[in-house]
Amino acid sequence: MEGSRTARVAFAPGRVNLIGEHTDYNDGLALPMTIGLGIEATFAPSSGAELVVESDLGTAVIDPGKPRGAGIPPWASLAAELSRRLDAGGGAVRVRSELPVGAGLSSSAAFCVAFALALGAEPLPTAVARLCQEVEHATGAPVGLMDPLAVMSGVAGHALAIDFATLEVTPVAVSERAAFVIVDSGVPRTLGSSPYAERRAQCEAAAAVIGRPLGKARPRDLRALDDPVQRRRAAHVVSECERVREFTEAVSSGELERAGALMVASHASLRDDFEVSTPELDRLVEEACATEGVYGARLTGAGFGGCLIVLCRPGTALDLGVRRWSVAPSPGAWVREGPGA
Ligand code: GLA
Repeated sequence: MEGSRTARVAFAPGRVNLIGEHTDYNDGLALPMTIGLGIEATFAPSSGAELVVESDLGTAVIDPGKPRGAGIPPWASLAAELSRRLDAGGGAVRVRSELPVGAGLSSSAAFCVAFALALGAEPLPTAVARLCQEVEHATGAPVGLMDPLAVMSGVAGHALAIDFATLEVTPVAVSERAAFVIVDSGVPRTLGSSPYAERRAQCEAAAAVIGRPLGKARPRDLRALDDPVQRRRAAHVVSECERVREFTEAVSSGELERAGALMVASHASLRDDFEVSTPELDRLVEEACATEGVYGARLTGAGFGGCLIVLCRPGTALDLGVRRWSVAPSPGAWVREGPGA
């Protein structure tokens, strides 16, 4: 994928996952939706070799002729890796973000997608998602495809039913009686330093025993697992994929009590079987669920900190004393070309 020497502005939204956690790298199912908050990247080409990236987090000068220095911030490593792969050449990129970093709202995938599109990556969802995933892997975060694929594929008013075995994305209309609030536990996490990679390895080991990806396994397959940790990890993935199927039906047909109960069950499974919750997330989920008008809540994203997603009636007064955002399913990434970009 090669960039070209044109001025561009690109926008990539964050995403919140409604249900289907730690299923993407297991060829399973998930139902994320893109939100209105996001990251904008503006590219102005120049004749020099250097790419100057100016973001809210600082300025980085990327010189393709020089080796990457150690100790540069993660966002600058991602930018350097993308500009190298896209053969971007010199110029200036300005990045503006409304997304909190490390809160589990996909700031990293949104950064990669906005940056890649601004540098001229062809806006094909699967290709851009794979590029962003490769770049994250190259910089030490062994993420799945959910975040960049959702960021690229968002549709206003819809969540995205994704089957990671085929990478088919099906927009699912969300009931107008459903409102969503993201609540920040205030505990930041990075996927490089969290036990995310360990969870992936445990799932792969369980899949090898069962003989198929956990996202395609059935409850009876769990009997083949003697290792109790592998069995719990697999039990989460198998039950979570079933919850995604049921939730998709419930949230589109307006059965919001049922959808909320599935979110609560998902949280319990992530807490007890997948062991990626924190006491703070557990407490906030309980408090949210005790609030009038709330159907259900669960941690969203990788876990180990970050945010919860709350499903409630529109207008619900949800104040848990921490940062929160009311969000609605919003359009996916876009890019515009031209000198005025
Ligand atoms: C992070 C990763 C995703 C996915 C989730 C857990 O957001 O980037 O690929 O694995 O965790 O569902």
